Amino acid sequence: MKKKVINKIGFLDSGLGGLTILKKFLEYTPSNYLYLADIKNIPYGQKTPEQLKKIALANVDFLLLQGVEAIIIACHTLTAHTIDYLRARYPELPIIGVIKPVIQSLCDISAKKIGIIATTATIQSNIYYDLLQSLNQFESIFQQACPDLVPLIEAYPMNQSAIKNKLIEYLQSLKKENIDCLILGCTHYSLIKYYISELLPDCLIIGAERQMVDYSSYYFSIKNIPKLNCDIFVTQYSNAFEQNCLYILGDKIQICKIK
Ligand code: DGL
Repeated sequence: MKKKVINKIGFLDSGLGGLTILKKFLEYTPSNYLYLADIKNIPYGQKTPEQLKKIALANVDFLLLQGVEAIIIACHTLTAHTIDYLRARYPELPIIGVIKPVIQSLCDISAKKIGIIATTATIQSNIYYDLLQSLNQFESIFQQACPDLVPLIEAYPMNQSAIKNKLIEYLQSLKKENIDCLILGCTHYSLIKYYISELLPDCLIIGAERQMVDYSSYYFSIKNIPKLNCDIFVTQYSNAFEQNCLYILGDKIQICKIK
């Protein structure tokens, strides 16, 4: 089957986390990219499934108005709660979430005790737990919600010792269980992967960013253009977001504001 060529891809997240995925696409091929950081509604992890559906719909509608032809949900919380709903609403629109690519990448690892850290809403959805169990590959599966991490990661400047202390608290029980693999079930956590590996030095740590380009190229091809074009929109102005965004992506990126 001939793959659809996508001229403009839209990325969705509540804030900085999805930039880790956008960055992989920016490195992969010059094309038209648009990123929406929904600062007004952050943190998604504390929202109800109904609230998340409403938010997702409004944000996809916004991206479609900007002319995007495919959506990357660069957020585990939105993927967990809204991807089926969005696909039913927009049957013609390619929509890729972050969870399946992560699950797929586990198939050839030898780890036996796996842990998942994620937002409260993602843990409550049980999506990772159920998918991991269906792989029939792990002796035990442990989950841990980390509600305080996203606000700490979004802050500027980042309070490193507050992040480290929170991680010590959240990873304590997983460490006791001697997990040998940890899934970063929130795209924000890739931004603090360094601290996580310091606390779990012998553990394989898996984020979503590496797999996303490969996974989406299975569904569509991205139009290659001579010059990269990437716009970042925010649903509410935030100086902290802007500063962190420049740090993560470099100062080539133009920051626009939604009216
Ligand atoms: N980055 C998101 C995720 O992957 C959402 C974080 C939040 O806003 O709570 O789940």
